[in-house]
Amino acid sequence: MLSSSDVHAFIEAIRRLERRVVELEGRIENIVREGKVREVDYEKGRVKVDIDADDKQPTRWMPWQQRAGGEDGVNDWNPPQEGERVTILSPGGRPERGMAMQGGWTDDNPAPSQKGGERVITAKGNIVIRAGGTITLRGEVVAVESGGDTTIDAGGNIETTSTELNHNGKNVGDDHKHSDVKSGADNTGPPV
Ligand SMILES: [Fe+2]
Repeated sequence: MLSSSDVHAFIEAIRRLERRVVELEGRIENIVREGKVREVDYEKGRVKVDIDADDKQPTRWMPWQQRAGGEDGVNDWNPPQEGERVTILSPGGRPERGMAMQGGWTDDNPAPSQKGGERVITAKGNIVIRAGGTITLRGEVVAVESGGDTTIDAGGNIETTSTELNHNGKNVGDDHKHSDVKSGADNTGPPV
């Protein structure tokens, strides 16, 4: 026969289990959350995220997922922006250990392309590719389009190899010829 203190202890154990289940339900819900970036601290590399539209309180500051290489310095700076869609992964369902993963188009931020087999990187600001070694652009056709000035600032020689080198439709390459040539001190005419 159970004594009343046994019954009391049993009920207490059930209550502890109930509290534990509620806590675990909360943790499970927090393992993966979707949200929208509220604020970005670019210097510290941290974001605050709004989890639910009706939630007045954003998350605390958390890092975003980013390639941070080792001693070979392979890094990727691709910061999220305000309003960007993110998914927060929190180990153990603990938001204080969470990290924001970028991704997912929205009506406000639609895809920049609707084609397969294509990689498109866009930015209203600068795009910088920086390497201690060689940067290679290789394509069937390489087109450089600039809305303003284009400069090449080389610390060493500039070597070009091509069948022809043209400027404004005129051959200025290694086999180009000049008009109005005669021997003497006169200058030649322009390339033909
Ligand atoms: Fe010339």
